[in-house]
Amino acid sequence: MTLQIQSLLLLQLLSIVILFLPTILLAVTTISPGSTLYASNTSQIWSSPNNTFSFGFIPLNPPNSPPFLAAIVYSGGIPIWSAGTTPVDSAGYFQFHPTAGDLRLVNGSGHTVWNSSTVGLGVSSASLDDHGNLVLMRNGAFPVWSSFDHPTDTIVPWQNFSTRNSLRNGLFSFGLLEYGNITLKWDDTTVYWSRRLGSSHGENLTSPSLGLLSNGTLSVFDRSIPGMAIIAYSNDHDEGSDMLRFLRLDNDGNLRIYSTARGSGTLTVRWVAVEDQCRVFGYCGDMGICSYNGTNPICTCPSENFEQVDPKDSRKGCQRKLKTEDCPGNLTMLVMEHTLFLTYPPQSIFAVEGSQVFFVGISACNSNCLVNPICDASTILSDGTGMCYYKIPGFITGYYNPALPSTSYVKVCSPAVQNPLPYVQKVVRKGDGRMQARAVSTVLLGSVLGWLALVHTLWWWWSSTKVGRLSGKHALLEYASCAPIQFSYRELQRSTKGFSDKLGSGGFGAVYRGTLANRMVVAVKRLEEMEQQGERQFRMQVATISSTHHLNLVRLIGFCCEGRHRLLVYEFMQNKSLDTCLFQTGDEKLESKLLSWESRFNIALGIARGITYLHDECRDCTVHCNIKPENILLDENYTAKVSDFGLAKLDHHMHRTMTSVIGTRGYLAPEWLANLPLTTKSDVYSFGMVLLEIVSGRRNFEVSAETNWKRFSLWAYEEFEKGNVNGVLDGRLMGNHHHEMEVDMEEVVRAIQVSFLCIQEQPSRRPRIGKVVQMLQGITRIDWPPVH
Ligand SMILES: *[C@@H]1O[C@H](CO)[C@@H](O)[C@H](O)[C@H]1NC(C)=O
Ligand SMILES: *[C@@H]1O[C@H](CO)[C@@H](O)[C@H](O)[C@H]1NC(C)=O
Ligand SMILES: *[C@@H]1O[C@H](CO)[C@@H](O)[C@H](O)[C@H]1NC(C)=O
Ligand SMILES: *[C@@H]1O[C@H](CO)[C@@H](O)[C@H](O)[C@H]1NC(C)=O
Ligand SMILES: *[C@@H]1O[C@H](CO)[C@@H](O)[C@H](O)[C@H]1NC(C)=O
Ligand SMILES: *[C@@H]1O[C@H](CO)[C@@H](O)[C@H](O)[C@H]1NC(C)=O
Ligand SMILES: *[C@@H]1O[C@H](CO)[C@@H](O)[C@H](O)[C@H]1NC(C)=O
Repeated sequence: MTLQIQSLLLLQLLSIVILFLPTILLAVTTISPGSTLYASNTSQIWSSPNNTFSFGFIPLNPPNSPPFLAAIVYSGGIPIWSAGTTPVDSAGYFQFHPTAGDLRLVNGSGHTVWNSSTVGLGVSSASLDDHGNLVLMRNGAFPVWSSFDHPTDTIVPWQNFSTRNSLRNGLFSFGLLEYGNITLKWDDTTVYWSRRLGSSHGENLTSPSLGLLSNGTLSVFDRSIPGMAIIAYSNDHDEGSDMLRFLRLDNDGNLRIYSTARGSGTLTVRWVAVEDQCRVFGYCGDMGICSYNGTNPICTCPSENFEQVDPKDSRKGCQRKLKTEDCPGNLTMLVMEHTLFLTYPPQSIFAVEGSQVFFVGISACNSNCLVNPICDASTILSDGTGMCYYKIPGFITGYYNPALPSTSYVKVCSPAVQNPLPYVQKVVRKGDGRMQARAVSTVLLGSVLGWLALVHTLWWWWSSTKVGRLSGKHALLEYASCAPIQFSYRELQRSTKGFSDKLGSGGFGAVYRGTLANRMVVAVKRLEEMEQQGERQFRMQVATISSTHHLNLVRLIGFCCEGRHRLLVYEFMQNKSLDTCLFQTGDEKLESKLLSWESRFNIALGIARGITYLHDECRDCTVHCNIKPENILLDENYTAKVSDFGLAKLDHHMHRTMTSVIGTRGYLAPEWLANLPLTTKSDVYSFGMVLLEIVSGRRNFEVSAETNWKRFSLWAYEEFEKGNVNGVLDGRLMGNHHHEMEVDMEEVVRAIQVSFLCIQEQPSRRPRIGKVVQMLQGITRIDWPPVH
C-alpha cells in the first residue's frame, strides 16, 4: 500500500519535472500580467535573470529624446528585437495586458501601434530568458508566442529561424526557402543575393531551419542533413568569450554577422553577405547610381539631366528634370561607360513585354532602346555573354565602377549632359582648390618680397613636398579600405630596399619582402615580360583582383604601373608557401615545424574554399590556371591563402609558355598540354594533385625506387586500391616522436579519394570544386571507385 503511494508520488514528481524541463534548464524572469513600462522612464526595464538581456524603451535619438522604440537589448545597449517598427512619443507605454493576455505598445494618443495578437489564447504569464527570448505562456508552461518566432531584423544564437520567418528592413527582406536556399530580396520580388545548399541536399529537405551558433557559425539544419550545412563563418569564429554574435539585415540591404562584447555597446562586422555593397539592388533608389568614393559607397544621379528626389537623402534615388514624354526636342540616349544597371531575377528574365534580354551588340543595344517607346534604359554587359538588357520604366538602379566592362544607356531629353565620373569629379575639385590656394599665396609672397622667381620656386618646392606627404597619409588611410593603392616605382624600390630581400619567384616574376611607410610588411611581386601589357588592361585587372575578397585568397594591397614597370603589392604571409612547409628538405629546423594532420586538412579545405569563391561566387574571376603548392601561402595561423589569381588573364600566351618553361609539370591538367581550352575543371585537377601532396608530403611527380620508378601519383593510386592507406600518408605523421599528433584516418581516406576523383583525365569526370568542399567535409557522399 505505502509502496504504491510512494511510486505514485514519484511518478507525479517525475511528470512535474518533465513538464518544467525547459524552464529548469534556462532561468527566466517572470513578468506578471498588468506589468507596464512607460516611455517617459527609460530606466524602467524587464531584465533577464543574469542581466544579459533586458526589455524596455530605447530612444531613437540618443541620449534620451523621443521617439522611443520598445526593444529587447543586449547588455551594452544593442537592440536585437523590437515591438514593431513604429516608434512612440514619451507618453507611450508597453503593457502585458492584465486580462486580455497580449503584449501591446500604445502611443501617446492611446492607439495600439503594435500587439502580439495573442488575445484569447489563454496567456497567463510572460517571461524573458537569458538568451533574449520574450515568451508568452499558457498555463505557465506552454509557449504560445515568442519574440524568437517573430524576428524583426536580427537573429541571435539559440533562435530558430524557419521558412515561416523573415527578417525585414525597409524594402529589404531575408528569408529561408523550403529548398534550403537563403535569399535577400528587394521589395519581395528581386533576389539580389542567394545561397543554396549543396546539390545533394535541397530536394530532400523536410523542414529546414537556420541558426547562428554562438561560436559564429551560420548554418542550416534539417533532419536530412547529418550535422548541419554551413553557410558562413564569422571571421572571429570560435574566439572570445562573454560576447554576443548576431545576424542582422541592415538598412542598406546587406546581411551581416556582428559581434559585441558584453557591456561595450560597440559592434564589429564579422561577415557580410554582399561584399560589394553596390550590388545590393536598390541601395541607391530608382535611377540612382552607386559607386565608391574610395572608402564608402555613394549614390549619385546619372547626369545633370537628373536631380535627386530628396536633396537631403541621396539614397532616395533620382528623377529626370524633364520627363521623356514632355521633351521639347528629340529624345536621346545618355551613355554611361563602366556602368551596369543591376539585373537580378526576375528582372533579368523575360517577364514583362518590353523588358527583355537580347543577344545584340553595343550599338543595337543603344539604338533599339531609343526607338522602342516602352524601353527606358538598357545595359550591355560586355562580359562575354553578348547580352543586352532592355529595361521598362519601373525601378532601375545602377552601379558605376571603373573596373566594370558594361555600358549603360538611359533615355533623356536631348541634349544629354555627360557628367564627369562621380568619383573622379570629387578628386578633381579638391585638387583645384589646393592649386588655387597655392597660386594666391605665391602671388602674395612674391609681391611683398619682390623676389618673385626665387620665392615661387622655393614655395613650389615646399608645397609640393608637403602635398606629397599629405597624399602619403591619405594612402595610409586607404590601406584599411579595399581600394588598391597606387605606388610609385621609387616608393616600392625604397620599401623593398632596392629589391634586396627576395622571398621567392612565382610564375610571373620574383617576389620581394618590403615594408611600407606605415610599417606594414608586404610582399612585392615584380611582373616580368609584361612591359607590352596595356596599361588599361593592367589597371582593370588590378581592380578586379583587389575587389576579390575571401578568407582564403591573398589580399592585393596595391600596385605600380609606371613606364614599363608592373608591380603588385600583396599582404605578407608569415609562414611562406605550402611547399616550404610540406616537402622534406632535410633541414632540421623545418622538420620540427611539421604540419599536423589537422592543419593539413584545414589547409586543403581552405584552398578548396578559395577556389570555389573564384569559380562560383566572384563575378569577374574564373579560372586560376596555376594552382600549385608554391602559390598557396600560409598566414600566421596556417590559414591557406591562394595567390596569383587573376594573373592568367593578363597575358594568356605568355603564361602558357612560361609555365611550361619554368616547369609546373605535375599540376597542369592534361587538356592544357593538349592545347584544349581550360575550364574550372582544370583547376580541380591541379587541386587534386596538391591535395595528394598535402596528404603524402611528397611531390606527385616524384619518382624513386620506393615507388617502383613510377610517378608518385600513379603508385599512390595502386597502393590505395590495395588498401595501403598508410603507404600514401606522410610517414612523418605516424612517427613515434610525433605521438601527440592525432591523425583522423577517416579524413585521410576521404582526402585521398577526393584527390583521385579530381585528377581524372576526363574533365567531365572531375567533380566541381564546390562539391569537393562538401566531399572533404563529409557532407556529400563520395562516389568511389571513380569511373575509368
Ligand atoms: C498614434 O497612432 C495613431 C495611429 O497610427 C496616429 O494617428 C497618431 O498620430 C499617433 N499619436 C502620436 C502621439 O504619435
Ligand atoms: C547568462 O545566462 C546565459 C544562458 O544561460 C549564459 O550563456 C551566460 O553566460 C550567462 N551570463 C552571465 C554573465 O552569467
Ligand atoms: C530550435 O530547434 C531545435 C531543433 O529543432 C530545438 O531543439 C530547439 O529547442 C529549438 N529552440 C528554440 C528556442 O525554439
Ligand atoms: C536556389 O538558389 C540557386 C542559386 O544559388 C538557384 O539557381 C536555384 O534556382 C534556387 N532554387 C530555388 C528553388 O529557388
Ligand atoms: C534525396 O532524394 C533522392 C531521390 O529523390 C535520393 O536519391 C537521395 O539519396 C536523397 N538524398 C538524401 C541525402 O537523402
Ligand atoms: C566617402 O563618403 C563617406 C560617406 O558619405 C564620407 O564619410 C567619406 O569622408 C568620403 N570619403 C572621401 C575620400 O571622400
Ligand atoms: C531631331 O531628330 C530629327 C530626325 O532624326 C532631326 O532631323 C532633327 O535635326 C533633330 N532635332 C534636333 C534639335 O536635334
